[in-house]
Amino acid sequence: MKILIFGASGFLGTKLKKLFLEKGHEVFGTDFNGNSDFKIDATKFSLVLKIIKEKKPEIVIDTVGLTNSIDCERNPKKAKNLNYLTAKNISKACEINGSKMFFFSSSYVFDGKKGDYTENDSTNPLGVYGKTKLMAEKEVLKNKWNVVFRVDIMYGYNGKNCPNGIFQKIIDGTEIGLLEPDQKRSPLFVEDIPEVILALNKINKGGIFHLAGPDNILIKHFLISLEKIIRTKSLIKIGNNQDLKIIPKNSNLNSEKIKSLGIKTTPLEEALKIIKKQIISQKL
Ligand SMILES: NC(=O)c1ccc[n+]([C@@H]2O[C@H](COP(=O)([O-])OP(=O)(O)OC[C@H]3O[C@@H](n4cnc5c(N)ncnc54)[C@H](OP(=O)(O)O)[C@@H]3O)[C@@H](O)[C@H]2O)c1
Repeated sequence: MKILIFGASGFLGTKLKKLFLEKGHEVFGTDFNGNSDFKIDATKFSLVLKIIKEKKPEIVIDTVGLTNSIDCERNPKKAKNLNYLTAKNISKACEINGSKMFFFSSSYVFDGKKGDYTENDSTNPLGVYGKTKLMAEKEVLKNKWNVVFRVDIMYGYNGKNCPNGIFQKIIDGTEIGLLEPDQKRSPLFVEDIPEVILALNKINKGGIFHLAGPDNILIKHFLISLEKIIRTKSLIKIGNNQDLKIIPKNSNLNSEKIKSLGIKTTPLEEALKIIKKQIISQKL
């Protein structure tokens, strides 16, 4: 199958490209800075349409975004461009070409007062990140075959000198300023995602799907358990709430809808063992 990934140089895009290639698919990646197959600024509709018309992918995966919620507050215009405009452009171009689009949204479309959010719960984003993601969802869902995944937090390992998301900060021993250390989350092992995409493509389902791992855990405990893979004495500095009320307290997602399709996600303990083996072997 022909698959085109937008954001292929990012944490999720890198992993998806590798896993789909391993499964024998024809995969093309695009990014902004030119570290992938094609350098495409997805804020420009003409460029997005051109690559989609040229490659004619069956599946388009959109992982583009400004993902740091504090950066989004500081630069709302950039957040709107990267989180909303890019998704709108990709969705429009997919419609023209007849490609099925998979878009990555966030649990931050909720206010975090309730937790265990289902796809039917009302959204109420607290900050610019969630607001711009919600705007994008609405564009993407104009095509009923498109899929919006809402993810809480993803983790996994792409290898040395590769983007590793939050895990890279832990590896580097960089301070992680947690605005809400007691935030409840449902981390998703990034390697679970390709099977979900293939399954939804096969049955041609569209709509919103909450995609979460089976664990419901405080963010501080999650990060410490990741850190235990690489060191025994924790370097993680738990930051303080800087009065930025943009982080939902309980953003964990209920993924019964996706489970009802027979899709399972990997428990944290199991995923940590896989990551540990990958680090030891570095065969990545
Ligand atoms: N990571 C998480 O835990 C998490 C949780 C919930 C939802 N999500 C969502 O999942 C998606 C992937 O997250 P991630 O952590 O993999 O993000 P990431 O590592 O920050 O990757 C973002 C990607 O977007 C590309 N990009 C930025 N501006 C662009 C532009 N103007 N045109 C085209 N591409 C552009 C980047 O390319 P360059 O490298 O060239 O700049 C990069 O490849 C995002 O939509 C995010 O909001 C992530």
